Amino acid sequence: MALMDSFSLEGRVAVVTGAAAGIGRQAAQTFAEAGAKVVIGDVDEAGLAETAALIGSAATVLRTDVSRKADIDALAAKALELHGRIDVWANVAGTAGPCPLLDVTEDLLERVIAINLKGVFWGSQAAARAMKETGGGSIINISSTGAISAPPGMSVYAMTKSGVSAITRNVAKEMGAFGIRANTVSPGFVETTLATWSYRNADGSLDEAKREEALRLRRSAAPLGIIGEPTDIAHAMLYLASQASRFVSGQNLYVNGGVTMG
Ligand SMILES: NC(=O)c1ccc[n+]([C@@H]2O[C@H](COP(=O)([O-])OP(=O)(O)OC[C@H]3O[C@@H](n4cnc5c(N)ncnc54)[C@H](O)[C@@H]3O)[C@@H](O)[C@H]2O)c1
Repeated sequence: MALMDSFSLEGRVAVVTGAAAGIGRQAAQTFAEAGAKVVIGDVDEAGLAETAALIGSAATVLRTDVSRKADIDALAAKALELHGRIDVWANVAGTAGPCPLLDVTEDLLERVIAINLKGVFWGSQAAARAMKETGGGSIINISSTGAISAPPGMSVYAMTKSGVSAITRNVAKEMGAFGIRANTVSPGFVETTLATWSYRNADGSLDEAKREEALRLRRSAAPLGIIGEPTDIAHAMLYLASQASRFVSGQNLYVNGGVTMG
């Protein structure tokens, strides 16, 4: 296979959750640019429509709340009804749920688990079920560097994101014989809505002084001295989605400027 063909998604069908913004939007765009038809889900319908407009006719949208198994199954059914197969499934939707440990309530814990953990579990199951019928595929789950860096106020987030790698390993082991690969991508800081909660004002605007300080700290924590962009994460996802990574499964790829190593 020619080098660039091994990174192509021509003729492939990719499902992306959390595609209304940030990393999920970029992943959907990158997969489409690589040739895939994309079926994208999110709770934010306006954002989804914007993503679809950026992509054009290769995109189909379906409002999907990943905390509801029925919505995830409907997203898979939509992709199968339209295209007859699912080759790539990226579980990107997530929520941060920042809260000091002693203030965490049952409601908050359950909401973050429902989106970040159950959403990834049911997404992986729906993907694996479809891929088993057509000879395989690639599942990509988004965790976070925060899963192991234990940032203050992020105990629930870190717990759920640690679980994402566990789900990925089990899917990889149990479904490998069917040609299904599963890998995790763990981004470092990328300046999206989810990641900017610590320097947002009550009205949603950014506090520029706090922002500058937060970005300075993030840069100085990374050996490369830079902050990531959604494309940095999407390009790693494209590698894992494509045949270029046909021998890679059960892995957790940190894309974080070298903040963690190992
Ligand atoms: N940005 C970062 O620094 C960073 C770092 C590590 C990991 N991540 C992970 O990357 C993923 C994408 O986040 P992002 O940074 O692009 O943030 P973002 O806020 O730009 O995007 C998150 C998307 O998830 C969607 N979403 C939230 N709840 C949902 C639900 N119940 N059902 C469906 N969609 C839902 C949102 O509507 C939004 O479109 C998340 O899983 C996040 O934890 C982000």
